Amino acid sequence: MDIIVRDNYEKMSRYAAEIIAKCIKSKPDCVLGLATGGTPIGTYKELIRMHKQGLDFSQVKTFNLDEYLGAGIDLGKPYDLDQSYARFMYEELFKHINIKKENTHVPDGLSKEPEKFCQWYEDEIRKAGGVDIQLLGIGGDGHWAFNEPGSSLSSRTRIEPLTKQTLDDNYESFYKKAEIKREQMPHFAITMGIETILEARHVLMIANGKKKAKVIAKALEGPITSQITASAIQLYNGKATVVLDQDAASELKNIEHYRHVEKLKLDYKLGSVSLH
Ligand code: F6R
Repeated sequence: MDIIVRDNYEKMSRYAAEIIAKCIKSKPDCVLGLATGGTPIGTYKELIRMHKQGLDFSQVKTFNLDEYLGAGIDLGKPYDLDQSYARFMYEELFKHINIKKENTHVPDGLSKEPEKFCQWYEDEIRKAGGVDIQLLGIGGDGHWAFNEPGSSLSSRTRIEPLTKQTLDDNYESFYKKAEIKREQMPHFAITMGIETILEARHVLMIANGKKKAKVIAKALEGPITSQITASAIQLYNGKATVVLDQDAASELKNIEHYRHVEKLKLDYKLGSVSLH
């Protein structure tokens, strides 16, 4: 696992966006796994900037991690006070780039048969050839997607009840500004499972701010546990990159080692150190 620390949110976002852009350039029809929330907004801004300079999304496919049950929009149609993740993706990324609507997938929170939908979603990811890069944030309770504490580390896409902490966090950052009452916000979500996430070929986790420092330290340096589902990153056998700002990295015990490894890898790439 590569743990990369950048000075601030902007630099963290740029680093993450560059990894995604590199993937798109080397494989124009790549499959991106995408996240919502406050953390990836800067990464999406960077990708939009790169698109204006020619980054082509015309063949890219996307699958989002999760959606509130009872929320969803038909992308591009008018909506009022819609707080779905589908709307978020449309506003923060999709409407600004040349991605085809039919290539974007956000779990359908309005599905009449959500359990069947979960299986369909898994099948669609498989049919698309699997996820090349999965972008992830981390919840205050250590969740990846909406895999709340106690979720099996081998879980698949399913319906998950949200914890009080997630409801509180997301109410503050998402629902409150739409003047929706706390008790009116959805209490369940459709979420990719941990095992679904770990099937991606590259897992890219980002986190910023002091608020995330403790949970990042637990996920990266603590025991692997279903109580902090993001700790499953330690089990992951593919390429894993964690990009943090200084604040989110501030509780890591082995920070000096991670900096050393980053420098060593760069020196190796530049040819100034060899393996012997
Ligand atoms: C969103 C998602 C969540 C968020 C997490 C952090 O699609 O999967 O796990 O990544 O709740 O949210 P923010 O970025 O708002 O702190």
